[in-house]
Amino acid sequence: MTHDEVRALLLSFPGVEDGVSYGEPSFKVAGRFFTWLRPRLDDSIVVHLDNLDERELLIETDPATFHFTDHYRDHPIVLARIASVDPAWLRAALEKRWRRIAPRRLVKAADAARSALPPRRNPASVRPRPFGYGAGRLTEPSPKDAKERPMAYGDQPTITVDDVEIPLLGFGTWQLEPNDARRMVAEALRIGYRHIDTAWIYKNEQAVGDGIRDSGVAREDFFLTTKIWVDHFSHDALLKQAQESVDNLGATPDLLLLHWPKATPSFEETLGALNAAKEEGLTRSIGLSNFPSKEFRRAQALSKARLITDQVEHHPYLGVDQLVATAAELGSSITAWSPLAQGKIADDPTISEIARAHGKTNGQVTLRWLIQHRIIAIPRSTKESRARENFDIFDFELSGEDVQRIDALDRGERLGDWLDPTFEWDKTEA
Ligand SMILES: NC(=O)c1ccc[n+]([C@@H]2O[C@H](COP(=O)([O-])OP(=O)(O)OC[C@H]3O[C@@H](n4cnc5c(N)ncnc54)[C@H](OP(=O)(O)O)[C@@H]3O)[C@@H](O)[C@H]2O)c1
Repeated sequence: MTHDEVRALLLSFPGVEDGVSYGEPSFKVAGRFFTWLRPRLDDSIVVHLDNLDERELLIETDPATFHFTDHYRDHPIVLARIASVDPAWLRAALEKRWRRIAPRRLVKAADAARSALPPRRNPASVRPRPFGYGAGRLTEPSPKDAKERPMAYGDQPTITVDDVEIPLLGFGTWQLEPNDARRMVAEALRIGYRHIDTAWIYKNEQAVGDGIRDSGVAREDFFLTTKIWVDHFSHDALLKQAQESVDNLGATPDLLLLHWPKATPSFEETLGALNAAKEEGLTRSIGLSNFPSKEFRRAQALSKARLITDQVEHHPYLGVDQLVATAAELGSSITAWSPLAQGKIADDPTISEIARAHGKTNGQVTLRWLIQHRIIAIPRSTKESRARENFDIFDFELSGEDVQRIDALDRGERLGDWLDPTFEWDKTEA
């Protein structure tokens, strides 16, 4: 498509306006279109043009400053990406998105205007085509789903637990100083991550909230997790921190976890308080972190709501087979923290060999291995290039043999252990 065709198409949606008059309500619609569109455009072109100054582009597509203007006529990245798009796909995709984000009155007016026109001869010919993620796609929606499912996470692979859809790839923020947390969360969301992980104890919830707002990605379009620190496990303290986390983030999290299991106060009290936090609307769902199988079962037995994940250390050097089985038995999921073994996988000869064969990096192969196992992975980075690299894992697939070779690297190596001595980790294979 030429630039002028794309421009005409965008401007055909009410609420998207041309010009540079920042501050009008309409630019929100335009900005959110683009923020949503970016990760869906052809990845090969992104890679090819990556060393151009993409930061400038990102700033311009931020809804806080974006208006559809002729700046884009001169911008090679946007133009190259748009040129590669199938026009029918783009029109159908934009239409669907526009219906979700445009003010009701605009949608109604457009429908009224459209129904006054004679019917189109062959509406079935405008069919969105699957885009970008080809063979690597893990949750290919059926045609029925494609119609009914909101596209909150687009084409990203997700896992659905107790009717909650969680993107399998997230972005972690442990040890990110506030400035880095703000910058990297905004960057991650702009790259296309739709799942952010933080915790009260990381002392960066406010910065994460700022990064979210900087990104311009709409709140309903990504999944957000935070955690209750162990000093706040009594009933009142838990509810107080849950409220504080909401205030820090400037948003209600999708998921609130108990950070580490603790013998006192009792599980009854803490699980009761966690459920109360959900009932009071301080989180949408609840879950656990670092709970061994025995404590996971006890906690679920005491919890009214489903505990939708147990976030634990898991990477090629630390298997969690028993916990995975427990999660499956309880209708829950496993989230892997330190999925890259804090960078150690970069030097692994087996992973390097597999990575070379796929033309990918060790980090990408490791994250792909996790999501092919249907484990949620939340890698962290302080670098935009690394965050981008770690997101680029949806266009290839590991063979059964690759997966088994990585499974076999398990050596029971634990990098972080703050388990209350009253409890014991599950035995691993190693
Ligand atoms: N629930 C819990 O108790 C718990 C505990 C620990 C972590 N977590 C969560 O899990 C997230 C991830 O764990 P993590 O931060 O410990 O470790 P990680 O994601 O396994 O590793 C992060 C480290 O690896 C480097 N790295 C990033 N991408 C890479 C790549 N493609 N190749 C090589 N090295 C790479 C990063 O360095 P650069 O910054 O230089 O890129 C950083 O030093 C945390 O941020 C946090 O959200 C939860």
